[in-house]
Amino acid sequence: MKGKLLETVEYISKRISMWPEIGLILGSGLGFMADKIENSIEIFYRDIPNFPRSTVPGHEGNLVFGKLAEKNVVALKGRFHLYEGWSAEVIKFVIYVLKKLGVRKLIITNAAGGINKSLKPGDIVLVKDIINFQFRNPLRGINDGEFGPRFPDMSSILDKDWAKRLQEYFDLPEGVYMAVLGPSYETPAEIKAFRKLGADLVGMSTVPEIIAARHCRIDCLVLSCVTNMAAGVLNVPLSHKEVVEVANRVKGKFSEIVLKALEVF
Ligand code: 6GU
Repeated sequence: MKGKLLETVEYISKRISMWPEIGLILGSGLGFMADKIENSIEIFYRDIPNFPRSTVPGHEGNLVFGKLAEKNVVALKGRFHLYEGWSAEVIKFVIYVLKKLGVRKLIITNAAGGINKSLKPGDIVLVKDIINFQFRNPLRGINDGEFGPRFPDMSSILDKDWAKRLQEYFDLPEGVYMAVLGPSYETPAEIKAFRKLGADLVGMSTVPEIIAARHCRIDCLVLSCVTNMAAGVLNVPLSHKEVVEVANRVKGKFSEIVLKALEVF
């Protein structure tokens, strides 16, 4: 791991002209945010030694370095999901690369299904806590003490001060995000059970990223776009098409929030 990590970081370091301070992990349909980055340097995942490659159509695979809202950022355009077959450890690797490049704060966006009936498609939710129903942990295996402790604290996954500054500009609903493996959506009975467990949202990403980031003390801000209500909430079948359509509809609002989050970080 260590040798590989150093090789990867060294390759990227040679191609960039500044160290990123904030990382952006962009979910379904939100890759366009990376196109707003100024003076950008793009590096394809496939060119980076030891780096995984994105396999989902519509999720491009590159790192974009540059300035956004006058901050030095790196965006991951295309992410890695467990349902693609990636291990959670691969996601840890990517987060550690960001850490080594200087990233101290991370904005993670995703598309999620609404479980809480007070949510509606198009809502953007600030994730205040998570439930790991993927039953995979990116920190499994030998712990590298350079990054963090063997048994890291997860009592606060959200950077509360950052969230508070953002909430001065937007009145975002807050919620608990439950991560499942996917790729099938849930059954109505599962959604009913998840609601009882305290979940407001359900999705197939983000949790391994958060666990790895918190392990190495990267502060996180997680924004979920409710692209549809989860199974059984309304009496309609779910489609990936709907997810993409709603994600497209809220692009403007989403980018406004992300830009403000960068501004107030
Ligand atoms: Cl309903 N479930 C899951 N697991 N992921 C989603 C979703 C639902 N809607 C968008 N992403």
